[in-house]
Amino acid sequence: TIFYAKHGSPMLIGVNEDNEKFFASSDSPIIGLAKEVNYFEDGDYGYVTKEELVIYSKEGTKKEAIYSLLATDKLSAQKDGFRFFMEKEIYEQSDVIADTLIGRLGEESVNFEELNPKLFDNINEIKLCACGTSYHSALSASYMFERYAKVRCSVEIASEFRYREPLMCKDTLFVVISQSGETADTLETLKMAKKAGLKTLVICNVDNSSMVRLADACILTRAGIEKGVASTKAFATQVTVFWMLSLYVAKLRDTMNAKDLAYQIHLLREVPVSVKVADTMHERIKRLSKRYLHGHGFFFIGRDVFFPLALEGALKLKEISYLHAEGYPSGEMKHGPIALADPELFTIALLPQHLLYEKSKSNVEELSARDSTICAISALEFDKADDFIQINHCEDYMLEFFQMMVVVQLLSLEISVRLGNDVDMPRNLAKSVTVE
Ligand code: G6P
Repeated sequence: TIFYAKHGSPMLIGVNEDNEKFFASSDSPIIGLAKEVNYFEDGDYGYVTKEELVIYSKEGTKKEAIYSLLATDKLSAQKDGFRFFMEKEIYEQSDVIADTLIGRLGEESVNFEELNPKLFDNINEIKLCACGTSYHSALSASYMFERYAKVRCSVEIASEFRYREPLMCKDTLFVVISQSGETADTLETLKMAKKAGLKTLVICNVDNSSMVRLADACILTRAGIEKGVASTKAFATQVTVFWMLSLYVAKLRDTMNAKDLAYQIHLLREVPVSVKVADTMHERIKRLSKRYLHGHGFFFIGRDVFFPLALEGALKLKEISYLHAEGYPSGEMKHGPIALADPELFTIALLPQHLLYEKSKSNVEELSARDSTICAISALEFDKADDFIQINHCEDYMLEFFQMMVVVQLLSLEISVRLGNDVDMPRNLAKSVTVE
């Protein structure tokens, strides 16, 4: 007999035709093993034997299990010929972004069937709250909400927000972003917002997760199961959802004309192609990676939405290579970090052709003049760089964003491989952080 109780952290039980039973904290570890799952509620307790599952509610009354079918797609839980799940997930981005877009793009509007437009009535601010990679996608969203939908937007790290006695006003839409839907700090902020009477929305990859069950409204990112601890495709789909959502809100608030909206939608349709990994690109990054296995640190730098991407690039590298890396706004380097510049300081420069190119370029030139080793990522040749990774020419900076995202993901992957690290299960990290 196994006795169990659930409080705070996620827990479910899966069963199969042979009446085998599995406890887990999310669906993914038991896909292919169990057929149906029951998600426990906070306060549930009971026991399980070979014959029966007994559940008591918080109040001590017996209750029946409510089973839902588990995805049977065992394939998505396998590596499919790739060396690592992370690599497979980088290559999958084109397909999962296409899934994220499906049914949501009209000619001149974005549709989210799952949203009631009333959610945005009387809203004067959007507050985004998340941890880790999801926090970076939220940061990139703040640029889009203000630029396209002209709505004030602020972004918070969940573990900070929890304890800083934040002011919560009823005209704020509170949005949490989470791949897993179970991150303890983020979940807690959602509870706080609900308690304060705010409208809430979750952008999440896992249906049935705690956040999805709790929030007033939900948009699923449709990235599929992500196994690599370092998030890749979940980030890609989160940014895609945010891009669409900012246009959806722009339409509601009438801040963008039909022609511009149609153009943005046209760009969105291009994203799946822009994240396709070309063999030549991957080979080039593989070769270059051997020069970046030492040094005293990496600075990933970018401006505007490329700043959150720089943060995300640095986080990827830290997570799986264990090298010190920071993301920085390009224009901020002169206020301190440039003091570190020497040949052993590696600068990974994000230089989009279609957004503040000259400004960003001159920031990189300052670093180059101080002898920092520069790896530039751009569609335009850059002669001050030691190494250059060329992305394809495209018509808009958001498409450059997605191409560069793939480059920084692959660069971290290849550096980690050369260092002999466990790419999918890096030391000290967990895929889902369900404790504070
Ligand atoms: C962990 C993972 C990160 C993830 C973060 C937030 O730290 O290792 O990859 O970004 O949690 O997770 P969430 O599921 O809330 O997006």
